[in-house]
Amino acid sequence: MSNPILDILTSIHPVVGLSPMDGLTDEPFRLLQSKIAKPDIIFTEFVSAEGLSHNATKLFDHLLYSQIERPIIGQIFGRSPDSFYSAGLMLCYLGFDGIDINMGCPAATVTQHGGGAALIDKPAVAAELIKAVKAAINDFSTQSRTLTDLHLKQKTLDTLDHNNVYSGFKIDPKNIQPPTLSVKTRLGTNEPVIERWIPYLGEQPLDFITLHGRTLKQGYSGVSDWELIKESARIIHQTKLKIIGSGDIKNRHQGSEYSQKYGVDGYLIGRGCLGNPWVFLQETTEITSQQKFDTLLLHAQMARSLFPDRQFDYLRQQFLLYAAGLPNAKKMRTELVRVSSLDQLCALEQEFVSC
Ligand SMILES: Cc1cc2nc3c(=O)[nH]c(=O)nc-3n(C[C@H](O)[C@H](O)[C@H](O)COP(=O)(O)O)c2cc1C
Repeated sequence: MSNPILDILTSIHPVVGLSPMDGLTDEPFRLLQSKIAKPDIIFTEFVSAEGLSHNATKLFDHLLYSQIERPIIGQIFGRSPDSFYSAGLMLCYLGFDGIDINMGCPAATVTQHGGGAALIDKPAVAAELIKAVKAAINDFSTQSRTLTDLHLKQKTLDTLDHNNVYSGFKIDPKNIQPPTLSVKTRLGTNEPVIERWIPYLGEQPLDFITLHGRTLKQGYSGVSDWELIKESARIIHQTKLKIIGSGDIKNRHQGSEYSQKYGVDGYLIGRGCLGNPWVFLQETTEITSQQKFDTLLLHAQMARSLFPDRQFDYLRQQFLLYAAGLPNAKKMRTELVRVSSLDQLCALEQEFVSC
């Protein structure tokens, strides 16, 4: 049986994907996105490989997914090959279609421990991590190692099974489908180093890479350098790997144009879909303020029902994004930042739709 991500990468051009976004692209977000306008591929937010392998069971919430989101790629970060091996085995057990290694996060909390974009300057460690996940995929597919070999706590095993009950995924030992292995990265740390970094990734046992056209130092400032993405695409296409571009894509039209112009196999949309899941629709349509409110409310309801213990705070940022573009957005935003329950949110409907 072939892998759906590989199928998509060979049959669709350009491939359109939802970017991984920590704290945002959780299960309610991805589920809602899939129901409204489903991208070709979807990434989870990143999850610490060390945390997963050390029984931090809360982290498995980030890996919850529904069948409708397939093909889905689970993303992990960190810097210890042993943890990557364990996390790789777990993601196989959870039925992910792809496993992605984060080598692009600029946050100091990640890079000061040697993970994320810091790996660009530690190619030998980066290769070890890739090798570890590849070994996990091979071992899982051949059933030469199972979760039992990881000596996890019972609570972790129960959590993994709980995730599988939620997603409706059941392993069929006779038909194990290996996930793809990929890396999402940046142009460099202080300066672009694509002449060294991209050929190096091209030598690794990967299926594709995703390149965000900024350096670590840039964070999210400036613009994504698509000329350097183009040069990287030229380099990577000398191997069998595919390349997906990331950075500043606002809609499908721009994504298609850039894919053609800069020679990538696909593109991701990240910030462009916040508060605007309709951005992934094939045809652009006018979205009414009633539709926006209904979607915002549904998003909040799904989040409350799935994560009842979470504070409302984490949703407020998204509420504000749904209000963007409304004629009276400023006033609406001051109301939305105060919302701390679904009832309070419902009470704002009239004001929102007439805004
Ligand atoms: C809030 C936020 C969280 C992000 N989290 C992740 C992440 O978990 N993993 C990752 O590879 N990239 C992450 N990114 C980077 C995005 O996936 C994407 O590459 C970047 O935002 C550029 O694309 P855009 O202009 O379409 O947003 C994050 C970006 C933002 C804004």
